[in-house]
Amino acid sequence: MELEENNSSTSTYDRIAEVKAFEESKAGVKGLLESGVTKIPHMFHSPKLNLNSTHETDSSSKFSVPIIDLQDINTNPCIHVEVLNKIRSACKEWGFFQVINHGIPVSVLDEMISGIRRFNEQEAVERKPFYTRDASKKVRYFSNGSLFRDPAANWRDSIAIFVSPDPPKPEEIPHVCRDIVIEYSKKVRTLAFTIFELFSEALGLDPSYLKELISPYGQFLLGHYYPACPEPEVTLGISKHTDSDFLTILLQDQIGGLQVLHQNQWVDVRPLHGSLVVNIGNVMQLLTNDMFTSVYHRVITKNIGPRISIANFFVNPSLEVVKSKVVGPIKELLSEENPPIYRDTTVKEVIAHYYEKGLDGNSYLQHFRL
Ligand code: OGA
Ligand code: NI
Repeated sequence: MELEENNSSTSTYDRIAEVKAFEESKAGVKGLLESGVTKIPHMFHSPKLNLNSTHETDSSSKFSVPIIDLQDINTNPCIHVEVLNKIRSACKEWGFFQVINHGIPVSVLDEMISGIRRFNEQEAVERKPFYTRDASKKVRYFSNGSLFRDPAANWRDSIAIFVSPDPPKPEEIPHVCRDIVIEYSKKVRTLAFTIFELFSEALGLDPSYLKELISPYGQFLLGHYYPACPEPEVTLGISKHTDSDFLTILLQDQIGGLQVLHQNQWVDVRPLHGSLVVNIGNVMQLLTNDMFTSVYHRVITKNIGPRISIANFFVNPSLEVVKSKVVGPIKELLSEENPPIYRDTTVKEVIAHYYEKGLDGNSYLQHFRL
């Protein structure tokens, strides 16, 4: 079904007023539903959203996102090598994979999802004090990071926590999810280091190579809440984008909706209880000279829900001491057959350019191409 952009919009729809009223409610998409909305407001209508043709998810798709089992990687050398091969090909071909037996107990994952759910499902009056667009706040609740810039809002609320470096004081984290945010963040950071080691080895580098290169690293947690959507065909949970970091580790519940663009088809990242989704960000693609790729992904909405997911982004922090650091294709990976695709740049330029260009990964890396 082709959905036309509503041409009457200019006469009947005052976008700025609608967005402003929504923002002033400080209660997010959840707040709209609490106020009894049964049709989604115009500001959420994605122009020309066409979920059913060109990039259709084909449920009989021959594709599925690779699943990698980390069990025994440190005790069995054959398994270790096999895992490195799987990681290398998943990062090149997909930019995405799911990990199982990653060492974080399922009970911790489940409680993390419950914690984000509790935050969003407490009374609006409890959520509102956290609602802000002030990016200097280490803990903040908001709906749509670029609400005032995007042509259409997404059906999603989020809570962002700058975990590292310089974490918030525990009492700054909402008490309904405080303990689990602290515990999960630590455990997922340990897993990220393991993955950086495996990535280094998969690239033929010393195991500690990427960890050292990336240090000092930043960690940014984004807990998303996608309420059930009364009209899933007209809006998205997250628009098509790439991540701007080195590495993202995502925890999702059992509802589904995350899709990755693979060979020009949207493929579902099927929920697998106890697993974590790992994906490559733009900076990692630049460092690896395209040996690993940062791919487009999005979240479609459903009429069931809520869906909860928690993304942990591993990034270069925007600290003054890091900003002058040079980043570019890793020299050890380059050769006559593999000449650099990107020029060297600085963390400062990477950060500045990302914010200037917004979320579109391709144009982002285009800027650094030789
Ligand atoms: C993101 C993202 C996917 C999800 O936060 O960048 O892609 O499933 N999230 O919430
Ligand atoms: Ni993403």
